Amino acid sequence: MGDPSKRDLVSIEDLSTEEILELFQHADEFRANLSDWSDVCRGAIMATLFFEPSTRTRLSFESAMLRLGGGVISAADKESTSRAKGESLADTVRVVGGSYADILVVRHPEDGAARVAARYARVPVINGGDGAHEHPTQTLCDLYTLWKEKGRLEGLEVVLCGDLRYSRTIHSFCYALARFGANIVTMPYAGFELPDYVLHRLTRDYGVQTVAASVADLPGLAGSSNAAAYLTASKPHQLALFTSLTRFEVNRIDAIYMTRAQRERHAGEDTANYPRLGRNTLGVEAARDARVMHPLPRVDEIDYDVDDDPRSIYFRQAELGVPMRMALMAFLLGKIQLRARPPAATSVEPGIAGGAGLRCRNERCITNNEGVRYLQRDFRLRAEESPPMLACAYCEREIEARFVAQESTRLFHPHAAPAVQAIEIAKRIYFESEAQALAAGFQPAATA
Ligand code: CP
Repeated sequence: MGDPSKRDLVSIEDLSTEEILELFQHADEFRANLSDWSDVCRGAIMATLFFEPSTRTRLSFESAMLRLGGGVISAADKESTSRAKGESLADTVRVVGGSYADILVVRHPEDGAARVAARYARVPVINGGDGAHEHPTQTLCDLYTLWKEKGRLEGLEVVLCGDLRYSRTIHSFCYALARFGANIVTMPYAGFELPDYVLHRLTRDYGVQTVAASVADLPGLAGSSNAAAYLTASKPHQLALFTSLTRFEVNRIDAIYMTRAQRERHAGEDTANYPRLGRNTLGVEAARDARVMHPLPRVDEIDYDVDDDPRSIYFRQAELGVPMRMALMAFLLGKIQLRARPPAATSVEPGIAGGAGLRCRNERCITNNEGVRYLQRDFRLRAEESPPMLACAYCEREIEARFVAQESTRLFHPHAAPAVQAIEIAKRIYFESEAQALAAGFQPAATA
């Protein structure tokens, strides 16, 4: 556990922008003749541990490793593994990522599960989708496809539509689009807006500005949306392209990324009026040169008669998944070297900030589910905001820490109290409420 030289892909943030661009070049080489590379990973074994259904992610990874000359062992279903008998994810990856396999691809229904796998496995772990958190390799495929179609990513205008709340592909894609300087128009189905923690991260880490927009009409898409917004990646001048959104005078859309309602993660929400993209959507002038994207599987949200439109590239996204994943695995296994530097700081690492009495508020977080048995709840101080904002080290959901305590005095203070400034950051113990601090055995400073 904790090998600092090991590279994992838990979040799209685990690759630098330059590394991603270099991986595109390698994917191009692999793609030029897929069958020419059968020595690159000869002798290596990849294990796919999929505890949720998948067609594209698992099979394209397996195809990619076979094309690279490696071997594959696979658990395609939770019920076929000892997890059905109660074995933890931590134990599973310790065993499989021991002598069984040289690289793991993990899909799991709980948010933050990929971080757990990366912590406990000795070999590189690739997140094949963890709950509603992230799906970074889908984003690599999406970016690669869009980059090939448009020749660039910077300055593109990308509309994200549908279930932006539970769609892990959307979360990874948003971060990447912001990093590459693309602008985003969010058109969520009512009640399925981007989660606050994703928006905060876009704002805090990329200086993204959010402008409320009332999209009057994108036929089939806008009718049920009530919270369209324009997210611009620190380039206010580009707002000029969309300043007339309220009157639907959109000049140009480069891509419309549609998502299905992630019903497996819903709590019975009504999706009767879920948006549906059809030929009429693409008939608007602004979409003349748009590309229609979807991570697939599609259910009803894109009409089948759009498939023949040359602007539809969703099957291409799936096709390019093989060379893209070949490049990623060859890199993580050390079979190809990248000139680009890794990111300065990787995505949330556990154990940075203390949160003795804190509990992640995300009921789908692995720390509140199977991880309850063995994971310490870890939080990272996101920013010295007021009140301080902590993020779960696994699923990244944020909580406001309104009270701060100190072990040596056993006293707690409101976060803005002058006494807090005298406590070293590393020694601050954060609580959401007075009740939480009292329950942990601390006393209020004023009345002690
Ligand atoms: N896009 C995607 O993750 O598809 P699968 O669920 O089929 O792997």
